[in-house]
Amino acid sequence: MSFDARHLLGIEYLRPDAIRTLLDLADRYVDLNRSPQKHSTALAGLTQINMFFEASTRTQASFEIAGKRLGADVMNMAMQASSLKKGETLIDTALTLNAMHPDLLVVRHPHSGAVNLLAEKVNCAVLNAGDGRHEHPTQALLDALTIRRKKGRLHRLTVAICGDIAHSRVARSNILLLGKMENRLRLIGPPTLMPASIEEFGVEVYDDMREGLQGADVVMMLRLQKERMDGGFIPSEREYYHRWGLDAEKLSQAKPDAIVMHPGPMNRGVEIDGTIADDINRSVIQEQVEMGVAVRMAAMDLLARNLRAARESEGDAKGVII
Ligand code: NCD
Repeated sequence: MSFDARHLLGIEYLRPDAIRTLLDLADRYVDLNRSPQKHSTALAGLTQINMFFEASTRTQASFEIAGKRLGADVMNMAMQASSLKKGETLIDTALTLNAMHPDLLVVRHPHSGAVNLLAEKVNCAVLNAGDGRHEHPTQALLDALTIRRKKGRLHRLTVAICGDIAHSRVARSNILLLGKMENRLRLIGPPTLMPASIEEFGVEVYDDMREGLQGADVVMMLRLQKERMDGGFIPSEREYYHRWGLDAEKLSQAKPDAIVMHPGPMNRGVEIDGTIADDINRSVIQEQVEMGVAVRMAAMDLLARNLRAARESEGDAKGVII
């Protein structure tokens, strides 16, 4: 199998064939999710713990549904109420949970790198559900699945990623994934929200929306991440919408069959016009949510297979049955 990872920490660590394997399996889970029965036993007997140290609606719900559909015992830790409030470190919390023998740990954390650190301390599979501005691999994978199904391919497409690139882990993971699959990438946004030396990633950078959107196959909008800003990155929300908000007029620069994406949650009237977001002929925002469940099922299924194989060979080596 070409997916041999132990954890899913970032797109950075995945080869193109591993990405394809995961998306192919996710396609099969889309069919299962659309069937009346919706269940499989891929994770039967396994325990999945969701630890979200940052607010989340769709990602947490999506991981929970994905685990339940595959037959795992799923537990959501209410991190605000946990011992962290009493001063316990991330690592101590992880070690405590580890002692309960989880098999899959899904973690979201406000600090970049926190999930990688945690993965070094536990002996189960860890999935990054977003760490600071670093990575959000399942979001990029669900975006890739949405694009592949809508456009019929995941290479040689012109993809415009627009808005608050600097604070966005979604942008970072998407740049890595779409770059690995050989697409043409354009980043559009105010210079204050563009990371330094971003051109080194092989992307084109624009601050003019109309120019950057020309001929795009995919228009990916990002939320203005106000919680990660400590100063005046934009003149005002009104001015931001005027220059970088997606409306029908700016979208008319893209290809006539261009799709519009947004990871959610959306600020309507700030980065995107509500009518475009709701236009079922252009917007694939609801499909992205649907693909999210299938991609997370595929990711957990593949990691669980690798985990079981690793435990079997460890057991063989020790001469014990686990
Ligand atoms: C994104 C996130 O949390 O990084 N949302 C999500 O996972 N659906 C993007 C965002 O918060 O803007």
